[in-house]
Amino acid sequence: MSIGTVHIRSFGCQMNKLDTELVTAALEQKGFAFTDQPQQADVVLINTCSVRRHAEERVLSLLGNLRHIKQSRPEMTVAVIGCMAQRLGAALLDRPEVDIVCGPAQIPQITELVTEVMNEKKKIAAVTDKIRSRSGENQVQALEDFEGVADFGHRQLPNQAYVRVMRGCNNFCSYCVVPFVRGPEICRLPKAIIEQISNLADQGVKTVTLLGQTVNSYKYVQGDRTYCLADLLAMASDIRAIKWLKFVTSYPQKEFFNEIMQAMADLPKVCSYLHLPAQSGSDKILKAMNRHYTAGEYLQLLDTARAIVPDLAAAGDFIVGFPGESEEDFQATVQLLKKANYKNAFIFKYSARPGTTAQKGQQDDAPEAVKKQRNNTLLGIQAEISGRLSSPFMGREVEVMVEGLSKKPHLNNAGNKNHPQLVGRTAGDYIVVFNGPVSLAGEFAKVKITKTFPLTLFGQLVSSSAGRRPP
Ligand code: SAH
Ligand code: SF4
Ligand code: F3S
Repeated sequence: MSIGTVHIRSFGCQMNKLDTELVTAALEQKGFAFTDQPQQADVVLINTCSVRRHAEERVLSLLGNLRHIKQSRPEMTVAVIGCMAQRLGAALLDRPEVDIVCGPAQIPQITELVTEVMNEKKKIAAVTDKIRSRSGENQVQALEDFEGVADFGHRQLPNQAYVRVMRGCNNFCSYCVVPFVRGPEICRLPKAIIEQISNLADQGVKTVTLLGQTVNSYKYVQGDRTYCLADLLAMASDIRAIKWLKFVTSYPQKEFFNEIMQAMADLPKVCSYLHLPAQSGSDKILKAMNRHYTAGEYLQLLDTARAIVPDLAAAGDFIVGFPGESEEDFQATVQLLKKANYKNAFIFKYSARPGTTAQKGQQDDAPEAVKKQRNNTLLGIQAEISGRLSSPFMGREVEVMVEGLSKKPHLNNAGNKNHPQLVGRTAGDYIVVFNGPVSLAGEFAKVKITKTFPLTLFGQLVSSSAGRRPP
């Protein structure tokens, strides 16, 4: 019998989604059941992101709704976990609806926190005081032990798993809150990572995405040997049941870059997908952002990547309206975007984050209208490039890893109940929509593409397949 029902929401990046999986597994093992209706939950857990103000505003608005629900169900427990919990700390407990505040470093304690609050009707804040000081050995060990908690559970995406290779970040890009909420960079032991992937493979996992804020800078020195991401990719490739390996996000840096690209070229299981955020095309802005490369060096890295992996699908991130970004700086970004030939790009409007050097030292001087206009300009250019790169897929057969039902419920049983609309992803990260049996979720399938959009391909199921990349 369940000891309570939990509703859980996740707002952040893949790191945050992975934490949600771990928390879900830990609560499930403790005996909790889950509901997608917050009104019916005994516990509502919100895993939060602080990267932009908007991300925090969404959480605050959800908390407002929960305050309302709690008026008629005061026994409900509300927990705010993750990056925003770490950023705002105990102050969040001032909100009447919030009972638990739990930072990313404390999530291994989540089941104890929840049961304590449910039983004793009190409020608790569990966050790290000085996140940038080396956390105690116990905290690091507790986080490491917690990494494996979901290895034997059910997965959000069947047969797919995220595996963290490093925690935190030391880069301090001037706009970014991540180093202040996730703490210092710590690379996990290669053996622990590979053992984890092996356990996952034993549980049926076929595709693994290695996660790190700057995943390509992974480095672990053991005796006279230095392990980099390319070594992890090679070792993970040796695990038979694993068919696809991806990694995100990469930082534009030379160290290990060629080795990693060579691993992508040589190891058939490593997908030809590189997410390499540029952030800006202006050297002046890149410097102000404390990014350690110029636009020219960035493009050079992309050229090198494509010389080694000719079928590379690349993606990038940009911030528009960074303090001091002139029209000329923005035009430099436009130029870089045009040259980069990304499969897709994520464009963000600058959001001043409390405590970061950009927020402290530079006026957020771009008017919202300018940010919006620059955002739209880049989106328009990218849509054209994405369309140009996706249209040759027309008529081709692609291999996809099937994620499950598409998010359009009205199409899920349209026409043929046995063949609802499914979504899958290619090795190059294209979303593919097609009809097929739901039993394909978590399997590889071949789909013939019949319609292309810039970011999404539509097609017809040809067959299920073994998970080998097409030549
Ligand atoms: N560690 C990754 C991603 C970090 S956050 C990396 O370094 O690439 C994801 C993206 O959010 C960043 O690439 C950046 O484009 C954007 N971002 C981060 N801080 C931001 C801010 N203050 N305002 C707007 N966008 C931001
Ligand atoms: Fe933030 Fe920069 Fe670290 Fe990425 S590399 S998480 S943008 S500080
Ligand atoms: Fe991720 Fe947002 Fe935290 S991007 S690391 S959930 S601040």
